[in-house]
Amino acid sequence: MSAETVEKKAPYVIEWREGFKIGIAQVDQEHRHLFTLVRALNLQSVQHTVEELLDYVVTHFSNEQDLMESSGYPAFDQHLKLHEEFGAHVADFLGNGEDWSEERVQELRRFLNKWLIGHIMTHDLRFGKWHAGQKALKAAPPAPRTVAPQGFFARLFGKH
Ligand SMILES: [Fe+2]
Repeated sequence: MSAETVEKKAPYVIEWREGFKIGIAQVDQEHRHLFTLVRALNLQSVQHTVEELLDYVVTHFSNEQDLMESSGYPAFDQHLKLHEEFGAHVADFLGNGEDWSEERVQELRRFLNKWLIGHIMTHDLRFGKWHAGQKALKAAPPAPRTVAPQGFFARLFGKH
């Protein structure tokens, strides 16, 4: 492909937006940085930019996983699997032996942006909501004890 055709093709760029927030400041800030690194992928310094991005992905995943595990997130195992699947997919892509080209960089950027958005808006957001719920539970005063119905009321409203 000539330099002219490369220039004509608009790069695939998705900017981070407020709507991607999941409500956990550290995670949101890391997600934002991931978008910056994906945007910075370029053919001229592809080895360096890919390496920097993947290093940061590893850091981010482990931070997110630590937070999930330490807070007792019930869907932690499932989430861990999604991160592993992502890693396997990227490893496949990078290991297919193809030379880097503008198209291949674009393909990687497209995949990363789509995966990130899909993952953040579904699975990370689910964690964000659960996390907020846990915080609210801890902040709330203890719920009044419910008294089990006894005698006549138990027979009327309770088990038959
Ligand atoms: Fe995640």
